[in-house]
Amino acid sequence: MEKTSRIPGFYKLTVKERVKKVKEFAGLNDEEESILLSMDGLDEKTADRMIENVIGSMQLPLGVATNFLINGKDYLVPMAIEETSVVAAASNAAKMARVKGGFKAHASEPIMIGQIQILDAKENAVEELNKHKEEVLELANAQDKILVSLGGGAKDMEVRKLSDDMLCVHLFVDVRDAMGANAVNTMAEACAPLIEKISGGRALLRIISNLADHRMVEATAVFDRDTIGGNKVVEDIIHAYEFASLDPYRAATHNKGIMNGIDAVAIATGNDWRAIEAGAHTYASLNGYKPLTTWEKNGDGDLVGKIKLPMAAGTIGGITKVHPMARISLKILGVKSSRELAEVIASVGLAQNFAAMHALATKGIQDGHMRLHAKNIAVMAGAQGDEIDKVAEIMASEGKIRMDRAKEILDEIRK
Ligand code: MEV
Repeated sequence: MEKTSRIPGFYKLTVKERVKKVKEFAGLNDEEESILLSMDGLDEKTADRMIENVIGSMQLPLGVATNFLINGKDYLVPMAIEETSVVAAASNAAKMARVKGGFKAHASEPIMIGQIQILDAKENAVEELNKHKEEVLELANAQDKILVSLGGGAKDMEVRKLSDDMLCVHLFVDVRDAMGANAVNTMAEACAPLIEKISGGRALLRIISNLADHRMVEATAVFDRDTIGGNKVVEDIIHAYEFASLDPYRAATHNKGIMNGIDAVAIATGNDWRAIEAGAHTYASLNGYKPLTTWEKNGDGDLVGKIKLPMAAGTIGGITKVHPMARISLKILGVKSSRELAEVIASVGLAQNFAAMHALATKGIQDGHMRLHAKNIAVMAGAQGDEIDKVAEIMASEGKIRMDRAKEILDEIRK
């Protein structure tokens, strides 16, 4: 039977029932099921090995976004995030995208950049370094035989003149399925003495660049005009996009919404979301700060969204296999490579942006938030089961979301 991430009513199930569905979808074993249900993936020993001075662990809810169809494959997407509505918004957007075939995404080869800063090099250093490029690449590749055996490794080198007395050598390293910081930093440090010798200068910083603009991912989706509310909605979303492209104050918030989705998947899968954030915002600012997505109308009057950004995310290394929740999240996703993971992450970012703009260009963002808030107030007032939705619905429609009103409504319902 074909696996589908379309699971109508998933949000209405109990946590236990949801975990069961996800277990079936992803082929999780009993241990993985009980780790999810324990809500506590990280034991003391593992945490103590991850960082210094451990005194506890800070938890976030882990949800799954449903409905994602990317390059013809169905995904349940794990998202770790504390903000309400993000998972629901991604799932709803993905559901609407399915009408026109879901997301099409493409990630480039996973090339990261290692930087070696050179001070006070000799006059013809750039020329000399270029002449000795193969020697430098060979030394870099001698540092990581396994990576090379997998088809990765240092592939190219570039010398950039930053000022009269400062050069920067870029090592372009194919890091395969890793995020790549370890491999790249090791190579940069190992090559620095040789680069000093060739350039006659002094190597100072030797470190990865988080502007991973040789490791790009793109995703696109067509949103059917009628499904999303008609031509006016299409045009208003395009106006909303134009606002972001004209104004960095708006672009910051526009991109923040995109990163809500991207970071949540990065965190769930144990990836370095600060690296992804740094890459995204620097890329967005290369020609003045711009939105990471573009939106336009196609010949059929449908809305077409595109996202493009650097994506330094891995499926091996770091804590991807160390943190039990990250390991399980990757199993739920079922991605086979860092490129496939990047394609999923970019699609989620695009879905999140669509959902935010759709809400903002129609009824506003507070309506959804208030409905969730109303549910929480209803629960606090003692509502149970079906009562929760009923009380919340009445309070939301009245625009009065207060504990005293929740109690009154509850009393009326129970009578
Ligand atoms: C809130 O976390 C994200 C939004 O502000 C994004 C946006 O405005 O596009 C809703």
